[in-house]
Amino acid sequence: MTDKGLGWLAGSLKKLLPPTGPFARLFLGTPKKREGATVPATIVVGTQWGDEGKGKFTDLIAKEMTMVVRYQGGHNAGHTLVVDGESFALQLVPSGVLYDHITPVIGNGVVVDPLVLIAEMDKLEAKGVDCSRLQVSGNAHVIFPYHQQLDRLMERHLGKNKLGTTKRGIGPAYADKASRVGLRVQDLLDEKIFRAKLDVVLHEKNPLFAKLYNKLGYEVDDLVDTYLGETLHRIKPHIADTIDTVHTALEGGQGILFEGAQATFLDLDHGTYPYVTSSNPTAGGACTGAGVGPRHINRVIGIAKAYITRVGAGPFPTELFDEVGDHLVDVGHEYGTNTGRRRRTGWFDAVMARHAVRLNSLSEYAVTKLDVLDDLGTIKMCVAYEIDGVRTEKLPYHQTDYHKAVPVYEEFPGWKTDLTAMTERSQLPSEAINYLAAMEEQCGVPINMVGVGPGRKQFLHFTATV
Ligand code: IMP
Repeated sequence: MTDKGLGWLAGSLKKLLPPTGPFARLFLGTPKKREGATVPATIVVGTQWGDEGKGKFTDLIAKEMTMVVRYQGGHNAGHTLVVDGESFALQLVPSGVLYDHITPVIGNGVVVDPLVLIAEMDKLEAKGVDCSRLQVSGNAHVIFPYHQQLDRLMERHLGKNKLGTTKRGIGPAYADKASRVGLRVQDLLDEKIFRAKLDVVLHEKNPLFAKLYNKLGYEVDDLVDTYLGETLHRIKPHIADTIDTVHTALEGGQGILFEGAQATFLDLDHGTYPYVTSSNPTAGGACTGAGVGPRHINRVIGIAKAYITRVGAGPFPTELFDEVGDHLVDVGHEYGTNTGRRRRTGWFDAVMARHAVRLNSLSEYAVTKLDVLDDLGTIKMCVAYEIDGVRTEKLPYHQTDYHKAVPVYEEFPGWKTDLTAMTERSQLPSEAINYLAAMEEQCGVPINMVGVGPGRKQFLHFTATV
């Protein structure tokens, strides 16, 4: 057969054969290795309304990584890590900062208050933590005082309908980003651009403050003084092309952890809108907020508390208004890391957990704060909702229905045992194993790790049953 004939035959076979599989490979050669497919690129995502204890497992997993990347949110987040009895409260700086071998990265999807960032670095360095490796994306947007002022004024204006935001300026900063009048971290590097962009944005904001809220506006010169002097001097060494940093690491086969802030049901698209944050904490947000495609991600760990908490307003089907709710607040120290607000508490909701598996392509769950349930005689788990008398196992897409959802509970006997010193699955009482097994069965993905206290070492591996 001629070369031309051979080419034709190969071409025809290519069309007939499946693109992969051993038979195809015989004819077509080994498919090109997918870039990054073997690199442990892992996302850690909250699967409830935040404060699941993501920081604890992010910190644990970070140990095996060389980079931790924050991909959304801002200093509305608050992680507390307890290392050797010392407590570290992080807001903007990625958890991995506590390991010397890790490059902590603040990705393009984050909104950054430079003043808060500097204060946080100062606090960490005072405790002996080296922050010099921290990189901040030049594409991340900047939170200015006018964003925080707007956040406060809008909440006040909403009165009893307020969202219960953290008043950190998160929503207004993301709104400016979407309106294309936001300033990015890279704009700090060019005074001319910085001034020009502030002129544009204040042209609109100042009349709003004056006429609608009867408040003083902001001067470009003042903001230049605050942000381009000592602040820029401190931030400048950290400003980087983080897309290149992340991809160079991926190409070099290094492990990267993408650290989500807030959680699935606070997601702007998938949460209980409008009682949400203004970014995308769900796993897809890691791709846009860090600049990687989905094919790079090979593990998505969902973090869930063994019960649920929420701060701020919004629907919460399993919310507890009784002494059990108070008990969870007391034992679980359920007060905001940042704001000190008392968190609302409720039973674990498997309907939400299943939905979170779908939205995030979760490969597994890690459960935190199981020990908070230690003293309870009976533990409930919501396995379905009843809406207008009809049972559903799925999360209703219409929020009016969600507001009407009545939880259908399964009850489990409590273990009445202190779990906080346990390090092996075999040490767990059978009641605790049963509860975790039921969670696994309800969620449809394995639970691989279980937290039994705030310390770095207070966790155990839990063998999957699904
Ligand atoms: P924002 O993110 O400050 O705009 O607040 C919007 C909603 O998200 C409010 O209900 C906040 O309480 C909630 N929220 C924001 N950040 C966190 C967090 O880190 N943990 C829990 N809830 C949060």
